[in-house]
Amino acid sequence: MSELEEKIAQAREIIDCASNIVVLTGAGISAESGVPTFRGQEGLWQNYRPEELATPDAFWKDPKLVWEWYDWRRNAVKDAKPNPGHYALAELETQGKNLTLVTQNIDGLHQMAGSSNITEMHGNLWQIRCTKCGEIEQNFEVPLRQLPPKCKKCGDLGRPNVVWFGEMIEMALIDTILKAIEECQVMLIIGTSGVVEPAASMGLVAKQTNKTVIEVNLDETPSAGLYDIVIREKSGEILPLLFSSNNNRTLSS
Ligand code: APR
Repeated sequence: MSELEEKIAQAREIIDCASNIVVLTGAGISAESGVPTFRGQEGLWQNYRPEELATPDAFWKDPKLVWEWYDWRRNAVKDAKPNPGHYALAELETQGKNLTLVTQNIDGLHQMAGSSNITEMHGNLWQIRCTKCGEIEQNFEVPLRQLPPKCKKCGDLGRPNVVWFGEMIEMALIDTILKAIEECQVMLIIGTSGVVEPAASMGLVAKQTNKTVIEVNLDETPSAGLYDIVIREKSGEILPLLFSSNNNRTLSS
């Protein structure tokens, strides 16, 4: 058995025995669906500066420019389909386990794959939130007819319903995630560079409370040394091998 096969077998057994699992995903899980990641050689932040586009200051300075960028991202994601990594997680949810799926992604691909219990830490690309009355509109227009879009209820300026740099994630949401970590036996961390808080520290919280942490990520991450099993492969290839109903599959199948 190769080292990779051993790791997969170990991880599969640990997951199989667990009743409570927390999964944290990042942009890497959607990379095989053609959605650009943020960091790395072809990451979005190679071409754009976060402070110029993904901050409240940038938005209030030039709402149209920021919306043009989101319109471009919506266009980049609109034809993306979930990949086997998303589907494997959706299937895990059907196996009678208590699964908390936390994602930093705003692309909606976990929902499209059939996962239902999803905590979107950073919001959703397909929602517009009114800057005045807070009304949230689901909107799948690509390109957007009105840039920047206006609230359907009160007519004020809409913004992407996402969490920007310098903005807080709701405390209640963080509490729910921390509680799920406290109650789980296993945490899976998939496709995230582990540099953006608070998600970056969630694996550490799991380790501090003696949970087993399994990471699947192509590149090195800052806290990997603390995790129990680290697999440096594509999530779309590995996740389908980790869950029990796929026990008969092998790396080459
Ligand atoms: N399988 C597994 N991992 C992959 C794959 C793949 N097919 N492709 C890329 N990766 C890894 C990369 O090696 C990288 O470490 O996914 C990681 C993606 O990291 P980031 O681009 O930093 O994405 P993420 O961690 O989700 O970013 C966090 O930063 O700008 C913000 O709000 C944005 O939610 C995002 C947050």
